[in-house]
Amino acid sequence: MDPANIPRHIAIIMDGNGRWAKERSLPRIAGHKEGSESVRAVLKAAADFGVKYLTLYAFSTENWKRPKEEVAFLMELFMQTIENEIAELMENRVRLQFLGRLYQFSKELQASMRAAAERTKNNDRITLNIMVNYGGRAEIVDAVNAIINERPATSDQRPTTVNETAIEQHLYTCGIPDPDLLIRTASEMRVSNFLLWQIAYAEIYVTPIYWPDFRKEQLKEAIEAYQKRTRKFGKTEEQIKNAA
Ligand code: IPE
Ligand code: IPE
Ligand code: MG
Repeated sequence: MDPANIPRHIAIIMDGNGRWAKERSLPRIAGHKEGSESVRAVLKAAADFGVKYLTLYAFSTENWKRPKEEVAFLMELFMQTIENEIAELMENRVRLQFLGRLYQFSKELQASMRAAAERTKNNDRITLNIMVNYGGRAEIVDAVNAIINERPATSDQRPTTVNETAIEQHLYTCGIPDPDLLIRTASEMRVSNFLLWQIAYAEIYVTPIYWPDFRKEQLKEAIEAYQKRTRKFGKTEEQIKNAA
């Protein structure tokens, strides 16, 4: 791994918890529990490697459609994990944020998420974004509505057009650079409504490894694969080489 070319921002679609459990004849929730251990391990490894932003897809706007016992378990897991991890996050100088439509969660969970964000907001080693009740389309809709609603309905200064800068400044991820590397575990070749705006130029890495088995070594392999890519941003290979 080249320490001079570490992705500044890594985003991960953490998938395969259910399949991991099924292979072991365990209930799906056992996969989620083990998956939370991967979150710990990958966060630590990412910080050690020098990654500055880690963005994890934990619950999509579509995941409410799952069996209600599974949804309830995930809510409980979020709640407990925050309580259990906060001290260690402070020790390791991790800034934690929860991004998504938080208002659809219980008052207690919202309070817990907001308190954790508030407590860790000045930590500067790595930023951990947990995307919950998150949808890329919902985020863009929320951004456009936020732009309109900055001025009262009676104002004649309400914007009648938007541009890329305005949208970017109103995304949940405002102020965070776009992901350099997007990882999806458990083989699926799709984005499932994750960071639709921000992944415009992310390098995509899909691995068959299930999320509960994805730890430091697997993160290192993903970064090594990323380091072999040539990022062109629309330019020609020659232009990129001449600039380097
Ligand atoms: C990802 O694992 C976790 C969440 C979406 C909350 P899954 O639960 O989707 O696992 P599979 O896809 O069923 O294996
Ligand atoms: C994407 O995984 C959502 C999260 C990882 C939280 P899913 O398992 O929900 O995605 P699909 O349904 O297979 O596309
Ligand atoms: Mg899945």
